[in-house]
Amino acid sequence: MSLTAEKITYSYNEGTAAERPALRGVSVFVGRGGWVSVVGHTGSGKSTLAQHLNLLLTPKSGKIEIDGKTAVPGSSGARELRRKVGLVFQYPETQFFAETVREEIGFAPSNWGLKKDELEDCVRAAAAAAGLTPEVLESNPFRLSGGQRRRVAIASVIAMKPDYLVLDEPTAGLDAAGVRDLTRMLNEIRAGGLAVVQVTHDLKSALEHSDMMLVLEKGREIYAGTPEETASYLAEHPVKGLVLPPLVRFAGRMRQSGFDIPIISGIPAMLGALSEGARRI
Ligand SMILES: Nc1ncnc2c1ncn2[C@@H]1O[C@H](COP(=O)(O)OP(=O)(O)OP(=O)(O)O)[C@@H](O)[C@H]1O
Ligand SMILES: [Mg+2]
Repeated sequence: MSLTAEKITYSYNEGTAAERPALRGVSVFVGRGGWVSVVGHTGSGKSTLAQHLNLLLTPKSGKIEIDGKTAVPGSSGARELRRKVGLVFQYPETQFFAETVREEIGFAPSNWGLKKDELEDCVRAAAAAAGLTPEVLESNPFRLSGGQRRRVAIASVIAMKPDYLVLDEPTAGLDAAGVRDLTRMLNEIRAGGLAVVQVTHDLKSALEHSDMMLVLEKGREIYAGTPEETASYLAEHPVKGLVLPPLVRFAGRMRQSGFDIPIISGIPAMLGALSEGARRI
């Protein structure tokens, strides 16, 4: 079971003088329970890719496959496939409309003809998965903190019971504690079997939490690999707008000087490798 984009190309304003390629042959793969981070400078095509993954945009060439089925635009099957991929937009709270969190989270499922108690169960389960306590269900979503609002937005998507969760800059605008909480929550969601695709500027968080990473630059896929491989690549081939954490940069430099240091290890492992290296000198 997987979500795959295969050599996607896409241009906005196609066929007009304003046509600009936004994606030029980009591929990505995430299996159930996986976590892929898509990183890149502003304008590199991250959001355009995210919108392809939930079939909001249709590629000019290439294809999107969900659980082995190719999404054919406009087909009856495409609607069903689309439900499997939940997309949380950047600043999703700007799209809130309801007066209570319960109503906000329950909006999509309320159209499925569920009985009242089934709908309540669905809302509560989605809220809990997103780390919201039942009391918050009575609150006005507009009056919550930034972190809580982001959770409500994520719960609204989880309530649709997707198998894949695509988040466009989920940590944008959150403070350090908010980022930590959100990351913990995403790890729990993933442990429950959902796959996560995270679009982010935050290289540190992507290196720490994903299984795989995709680096985009000007619509091109310039690297795909594990966090370790990606960190090594970026240490040698800096990409505009992607700043490696200082410790990773330092490890990269030490490796270039011949020290056998794991590139994204924690400080203790790094100090151990350094003292081992110093003993040998
Ligand atoms: N609705 C649109 N109409 C025309 N061009 C667009 C539109 N949305 C994006 N673009 C262009 O497509 C390219 C890719 O944009 P996209 O929003 O996917 O990048 P991004 O990596 O998400 O950037 P950011 O980090 O700023 O969110 C950019 O050159 C952008 O200007
Ligand atoms: Mg974007």
